[in-house]
Amino acid sequence: MIYIIGNDIKIFDKLDSTNNFVKQNYTNLTHGSVVVAKLQSDGRGRRDNTWTSELGNLYFSILFKDDIDRLNIFKHIVYSSISVIRLLKIHYIDAKIKYPNDCLADNKKITGILIESSGSSILDYVIVGIGININQDSFIKSDFTATSFKMILGKDFLINDILNEYLDIYNKILKMDYEVLFKEYLDCSIVINKHINYLGEKYLIKSIEKDGSIVIRNKSSERRVAYSKISLKELY
Ligand code: BTN
Repeated sequence: MIYIIGNDIKIFDKLDSTNNFVKQNYTNLTHGSVVVAKLQSDGRGRRDNTWTSELGNLYFSILFKDDIDRLNIFKHIVYSSISVIRLLKIHYIDAKIKYPNDCLADNKKITGILIESSGSSILDYVIVGIGININQDSFIKSDFTATSFKMILGKDFLINDILNEYLDIYNKILKMDYEVLFKEYLDCSIVINKHINYLGEKYLIKSIEKDGSIVIRNKSSERRVAYSKISLKELY
């Protein structure tokens, strides 16, 4: 695999969704391409949610298409969310990861990540779509409370500077040992030992496994649940 992203960066004033653009054009785009939109008319979040995308924030998608095993998809969650945590740290923002990949500062959502793929065991592509709230200074209350760089630090930022910082960090992270990164991911994670409802029953979250599944336990049973099968909305 070539561990470089961002050699080709395409910037658009407006797209429906950067993830859609990459999905529709992945055969013509090289591995590691980055597609940015200043505005998205149909930004998408996880679980079919809308990602409202006004001017002033960073919306982009990264394409991975070389040699990707389905079993490694969770690694992309770890890479992308740890890169956000490190980016925020540069700006003195302390953030945590709400499993699987929401980044929270002040317990409010500052970044959302939508990972999409196609293919069977060896995938055609993985698209990592990232929305980072930068210069927005208020948010309509939805399922979660949101925040931004500006709301925390009280000033505007250049979106391109933040993108370049993020890509530098991501490229460094792609070269690191996964075990080390996974440990960093666990250290930043806020869900272990929290209670959740799963299929109508209350469970305690015991651990996050390397493949991204979580182990939950209650008095009568212990289960391992894949990350795609669980929503932790209640933990905001
Ligand atoms: C979530 O938290 O639900 C994930 C939100 C992901 C939003 C980003 S913005 C860039 C990319 N394009 C999209 O349509 N979605 C992702």
